[in-house]
Amino acid sequence: MAQASVIDVVRGDITQQDVDAIVNAANSSLMGGGGVDGAIHAAAGPALLQACKDVRRRLYPDGLPTGAAIATTGGDLPARFVIHTVGPKYWEYADGGRELLAAAHRNSLAETQRVGASSVAFPAISCGVYGWNPREAAPIAIEAVRTALADFPDVQRVSFVLINDDAFDAFTRAIESAD
Ligand code: APR
Repeated sequence: MAQASVIDVVRGDITQQDVDAIVNAANSSLMGGGGVDGAIHAAAGPALLQACKDVRRRLYPDGLPTGAAIATTGGDLPARFVIHTVGPKYWEYADGGRELLAAAHRNSLAETQRVGASSVAFPAISCGVYGWNPREAAPIAIEAVRTALADFPDVQRVSFVLINDDAFDAFTRAIESAD
């Protein structure tokens, strides 16, 4: 019987988490950027960008689609893997792209399982540059993870790692009301 998976909410910097994989809120180019993408590339070092260039060449010549996810090496990070995903830009969809936001979480868990990682940390995907309010995004993110975990039995621990009060409060409230 697979041990029940744990979902928790942590206040902190995702680049410093002691987990097998961290999820990057990337853009489709995978060439880095600001926000958590910038922090992860800065901490992982040049090997991460090189791995992303390889992914673009081999798998995604037109860029990683919104909602898709792909794992690469973690470079100099404590985490062995970075799982890059692209969240929806709030203003591009009538409903903000909620299905794509859920897909980004589900596909990131599929990649976590595929690479054999048992612990994974998510940032607040789309809650910065891409314009989602964390109070709206958190319930979607948590529900998507809860539902998907049944399909990925080797994923034992999922942490949402939030660096600011707004997101931390939103995810804490959402996980409490989801129980
Ligand atoms: N650890 C954890 N969370 C972080 C960190 C960090 N080190 N740095 C930033 N964050 C938080 C932000 O405060 C926000 O709540 O990550 C959340 C996601 O914000 P963004 O990084 O702006 O990501 P997103 O809204 O998905 O926009 C993606 O931004 O950085 C660019 O290249 C990226 O074009 C892409 C776009």
